[in-house]
Amino acid sequence: MEVKQAEFVMSNSDPARCPKPDRPEYAFIGRSNVGKSSLINMLTTRHKLAKTSQTPGKTQLINHFLINSDWYLVDLPGYGFAKAPQREREKWERMIDSYLTNRSNLICTFVLVDGRIEPQRIDLEFMERMGERGLPFAIIFTKTEKSSTNAVQQAVKRYEQTLLKTWEELPPMFISSSVSGRGRDEILVYIDQLNKE
Ligand code: GTP
Ligand code: MG
Repeated sequence: MEVKQAEFVMSNSDPARCPKPDRPEYAFIGRSNVGKSSLINMLTTRHKLAKTSQTPGKTQLINHFLINSDWYLVDLPGYGFAKAPQREREKWERMIDSYLTNRSNLICTFVLVDGRIEPQRIDLEFMERMGERGLPFAIIFTKTEKSSTNAVQQAVKRYEQTLLKTWEELPPMFISSSVSGRGRDEILVYIDQLNKE
């Protein structure tokens, strides 16, 4: 699929005020600084569409981007940002939670994880909650240009083994790098397929 148009629509702290849920929507979530906003820019090849930063906690609102006038990509704040004041953190968590559980047009959430580190409890717990609520998700490994092919394969295997301890089925998994563009085609093909279902 080609991304012909990508435009910022709005930022929101209140999920109820997001755009009318009349088009398929895909959200990006994961720990602060894992590379959610960068991935949106990589997928759309618009390098300044979503705001990125070296410092965690950059994205603080629910951000909608309209793609090809047809479907939405959504950039969400990260979870687990230890340095944010607890009250702020709880506010973001409530906002994310309410968005994920109430957004009727949300087709799939991409959970981004850093493949360079062991599966983290916070990510596994997040996935567990998604599963309990019957919310479809896929995993995207980020920043993989920093690791050898072998290390990336091991990271995927570690996740598979960890998830299979409690899950019968594995979610789709994608290997990405916003620096090299790796994973772009696969993720867009996946979205395109879901859009057509
Ligand atoms: P928050 O909005 O704070 O939750 O962070 P985020 O998940 O949106 O991360 P963001 O896209 O802002 O990227 C965080 C940092 O990681 C930035 O310094 C990016 O340049 C860097 N980064 C993102 N993706 C990649 C990647 O694929 N490879 C490398 N090497 N760095 C990346
Ligand atoms: Mg961000």
